[in-house]
Amino acid sequence: MSHDHSSDPNRRDFLKIGGAAVVAGATAIRGGADVAAAEQGAYNAMFTTPPIETVRVGYVGVGLQGSGHVRNLLRIPGCRVTAVCDIRSERTDWATKAIVEAGQPAPAVYNRGPRDFERLCETEDLDLVYTATPWEWHVPVMLSAMKNGKHAATEVPAAMTVDDCWAMVEAAEKHRKHCLMMENCNYDRMEMMVFNIVRQGLFGELLHAEGGYLHDLRGIKFENRNEGLWRRAWSQKLDGNPYPTHGLGPVANCLDINRGDRFEYLVSMSSPSRGLQDWAAEHFPLDAPQRQEKFVLGDVNTSLIKTARGRTIMVQHCTNLPRPYSRIHMVQGTKGLFQGYPNRVYIEGRGRNDQWVPANDVLAEFEHPLWKEIAEQAQGAGHGGMDYIEDYRLIKCLREGLPLDMTVYDAAALSAVVELSGMSVARRGRPADVPDFTKGRWRTTPPLPIVHM
Ligand SMILES: NC(=O)c1ccc[n+]([C@@H]2O[C@H](COP(=O)([O-])OP(=O)(O)OC[C@H]3O[C@@H](n4cnc5c(N)ncnc54)[C@H](O)[C@@H]3O)[C@@H](O)[C@H]2O)c1
Repeated sequence: MSHDHSSDPNRRDFLKIGGAAVVAGATAIRGGADVAAAEQGAYNAMFTTPPIETVRVGYVGVGLQGSGHVRNLLRIPGCRVTAVCDIRSERTDWATKAIVEAGQPAPAVYNRGPRDFERLCETEDLDLVYTATPWEWHVPVMLSAMKNGKHAATEVPAAMTVDDCWAMVEAAEKHRKHCLMMENCNYDRMEMMVFNIVRQGLFGELLHAEGGYLHDLRGIKFENRNEGLWRRAWSQKLDGNPYPTHGLGPVANCLDINRGDRFEYLVSMSSPSRGLQDWAAEHFPLDAPQRQEKFVLGDVNTSLIKTARGRTIMVQHCTNLPRPYSRIHMVQGTKGLFQGYPNRVYIEGRGRNDQWVPANDVLAEFEHPLWKEIAEQAQGAGHGGMDYIEDYRLIKCLREGLPLDMTVYDAAALSAVVELSGMSVARRGRPADVPDFTKGRWRTTPPLPIVHM
C-alpha cells in the first residue's frame, strides 16, 4: 500500500525521516498562472469521460455500508451490479440474492480471499468498481480497478497515507479514470441547503468553517463483527484524525477547495486516550484480551487547516467518549453563519440582532434543488436518504458523461488530513504542509455548481 515517490519531483518536499513520513518546508503551489492552456484543457477533460448507457458495477466489500450501496444501485435507472466480492461468502450470498430479487442476472462472485478483488478487476467487463471495504483496502482496490480500465469509487476516507493519496491521483491521471471518494455527508439535506445559501452569497465572504465526526462508537469498536473487526485497530496505531472527511467534505465544497482555494497546511493536537480503555475495563473480565489492548488515538483530536487564501477550518474527531452525535457543521462569513447540531442560521439584517433562526424556518426558501427533486425517491435509504442521492449522482454523471461532484484531487486533499494530522500531533502540533495534488490548477478549476437530478 505504500509507494516510493522519492524520485518524483512533484513530491520532493515530502520526505521520509526515520521511517515516519514528515512534510518539510513549504509545499510550493506549482503551476498557477503559468499552467499551459493545453494542460489546463486536459485537466478539465479529466473531469468528464464518455457517457455509459448502462453502468456495470463490481462491488467490493458488501458489509454494513456496502450492502446499503448495493441496494441503492439496484434501484437506480441504468445501473447493474454484475460482480460482487467479499472475503465472507455469506456476504456475497446476500448480495447475489438481493441482485436476483431486483430482477437482474446473478452476479459473478469473488470470495477467494482478501486479494480476490484483483481477479474481479482483471476478469470482469465493468465500468465501475466501487468499494466499501475496511480503510486499508480502499486504495489497493481502486488502483487495481483503474489499472484494468475501470472507474473507481470508494467509501471514506479514500486513503490513510499521503503516499496513497498520490498513488490515487497518479493512477487517475495516467489511466484517465474517475477516482471518487463517496462522501455522503456532502449530500445531506442541511449541508446542501447551506451550500445553496453560500452560493447565493447571503453569508458574504466565507472566512472560517468547522466540521467533525463526533460519534460514540465505543460499543461498535468492541463488537465481534463488522467494524469491530477492523476499526478498533486504527485506534491502536494512529493518533490523529482517522476519519476527517464527513466534517471536511461539506465545508470544503462551500470554501471551493481545489476550485479556487486549497488546503495549505494544518496543525493538530490530541487529548489523552481514555475512552476505549475505560470501556474495556467496564465490559470485559479481567483476563480478557481486550483489557490488554493499548490505544494511542487521543479521544478528542482537533486539527486546524489554513487555506491558501488564508481561511481557517477546524476539524475534530471524537469516537471514544460518551456523547450525542454531531458533525459540528459550521460556516462563518462576513455577513452571517450557519451552525449545526442543532441547525440554525444567522444572516445580518434578517431577523433579530444576535438571535439564531432555526434552520427549518428557512428550509423552504433555501432548500437545495437536488433535494427538492429527489427527496421522495431517496426516502428510506441509508443515513436519511443522502446515501441514495450520492449513488444516484454518481451513476447519472457516468451515464451522461458529466463531471462528477468530487474529483480525485478532493479525495486526496481530504484524506491526506489522516496522516498529516498524525504527523502534527507527533511533533507537538507543528505545521504539516498539505501537498498540492492539483499542481497549481486549483486556481483555475471552476467552482462546484448547483447540481440537479
Ligand atoms: N459514509 C458513511 O456514512 C459510512 C458509514 C459506515 C461505514 N462507512 C465506510 O464503509 C467502509 C466499510 O464499513 P462497514 O461499516 O460497512 O464495515 P463492515 O466491516 O461491515 O464491511 C466491510 C466488508 O468488507 C469485507 N472485506 C474486508 N476485507 C475485504 C477484502 N480485502 N476484499 C473484499 N472484501 C473485504 C468484509 O468482510 C465486510 O463485509 C469503511 O470505509 C467505512 O468507513 C461509511
